[in-house]
Amino acid sequence: MRVLSGVQPSGTLHIGNFFGAIRQFVALQSEHECYYFLADMHALTTVQDAGRMRSLVRELAAGYLALGLDPARSVLYRQSDLPEIPELTWYLSTVTSMGLLQRCHSFKDKVAQGVVPNHGLFAYPVLMAADILIVRSDLVPVGKDQKQHLEVTRDIAASFHAVYGREIFTLPEPLIQDDVAVVPGIDGLKMSKSYGNTIDIFGPEKPIRKRIMSLVTDSTPVEDPKPREGSALYQLLKIFAPVEERPWVEGAFDNGGVGYGEMKKKLFEYFLATFGAARSRYDELMADPAEVDRILLAGAARARETVAPLMDDVRRAVGIR
Ligand code: ADP
Ligand code: TRP
Repeated sequence: MRVLSGVQPSGTLHIGNFFGAIRQFVALQSEHECYYFLADMHALTTVQDAGRMRSLVRELAAGYLALGLDPARSVLYRQSDLPEIPELTWYLSTVTSMGLLQRCHSFKDKVAQGVVPNHGLFAYPVLMAADILIVRSDLVPVGKDQKQHLEVTRDIAASFHAVYGREIFTLPEPLIQDDVAVVPGIDGLKMSKSYGNTIDIFGPEKPIRKRIMSLVTDSTPVEDPKPREGSALYQLLKIFAPVEERPWVEGAFDNGGVGYGEMKKKLFEYFLATFGAARSRYDELMADPAEVDRILLAGAARARETVAPLMDDVRRAVGIR
């Protein structure tokens, strides 16, 4: 099966991104033909500063590689290195009804949050459909929030087929990891860069430790058992603790005698044990931008070979070139 997914370089990678997305990307590499890209054209709908865009792309690329996406097994590329994507986006736009896009939750949500919408933000699902359809992906691993965009992608493909009377695209299926609970942030809400409650994966140790130590907890005295319900600290400990340490975590909550400060120190230890190797690799990659660029350009060349026959079919179908 062909798998494709992407992440926007619109903020620093946090542990929610790893457990909710990148961990699945890594696992799928061993069984499928995978295409993973950096959705920099998507990020332009919100990041509009060239310097910041460049560093976010560099950080995300180093993060992908450090966390185990392997250019020998997957095709890794930057969306903007495939000019065929915006070209296909336009062909698809002309068969996409306004109503379909007006019904998209993510657009409505962003507007409700007070984002002043630009046309790019409105048209974003068409760009996403082009990302997916262009490599004929069968499976698209995404979070629940992206499920509707997959339905829109299928609708757009079907509409193209109906208009031009030819079946060119593969209709993709979403691969939604239901067992991956939403990773909570330090305030107990969903961890998200837009809530400022993240624990980053990379970067200097000290601020990460400080973040973990500032996890919101209640005022249960040290000697008392601690409530698990609604505790972000408990959920994070469960996500991170190695199997042999799980009884310690349960006992710390159920029996009392262990303070929240001590538990947070443990959480920080587990964090380093989980990400230590990736963090060193990330630092090496960040110090060698030429190597990262080489990997991305090689990936783009492979992706362009994949998409060429489909683009020929599409151009022939619409009567252009
Ligand atoms: P953010 O919410 O920080 O803006 P993105 O929307 O860029 O993150 O998410 C990138 C990927 O990481 C998506 O596939 C999303 O489902 C996943 N993800 C983000 N936050 C979490 C979280 N708190 N728990 C689980 N998965 C998450
Ligand atoms: N919209 C996705 C997000 O915000 C990122 C994305 C862009 C994507 N194009 C994609 C994901 C294609 C999967 C497939 O997380």
